[in-house]
Amino acid sequence: MKVLVIHGPNLNLLGTREPDIYGSLTLDQINTQIEALALQHEVEIACFHSNHEGEIVDQVQAAGGSGSGKADAIIINAAAYTHYSIAIRDALSAVGIPAIEVHLSNIHARESFRHTSVIAAACRGQIAGFGAQSYLLALEALVREARG
Ligand code: DQA
Repeated sequence: MKVLVIHGPNLNLLGTREPDIYGSLTLDQINTQIEALALQHEVEIACFHSNHEGEIVDQVQAAGGSGSGKADAIIINAAAYTHYSIAIRDALSAVGIPAIEVHLSNIHARESFRHTSVIAAACRGQIAGFGAQSYLLALEALVREARG
């Protein structure tokens, strides 16, 4: 089983970016935690970050293709694109592989513009509000769903 983890815009600033909201772990530290859990479950992991919408669309498409970017499932924190990127939503719908939407913060307890996720309907489910653990819970959910 191979899982693609996608981190969207500004998540490369984690560690110093509004730590009261997003915590103090850097993106590298979060990826290390995800990779450690993946190793326990014998899951192959590819972590990808981009600040650019089109690059995220490209990665989602590659996950659904037959080349080296192919994956069995996606964990995606689309960051601000969550709230308005129809392109990312359409890409997720198009590839049709299971995706879990994650957020470090509880988007539903924040500003009203964050309450809407346009990608949610193209995802298997959403996990928000558990900091870096949101990614780990998403990986657990994917493994449980795939292996029972
Ligand atoms: C976020 C929440 C988004 O609203 C925000 O734009 C982000 C991060 C989160 O992980 O909590 O960049 O996706």
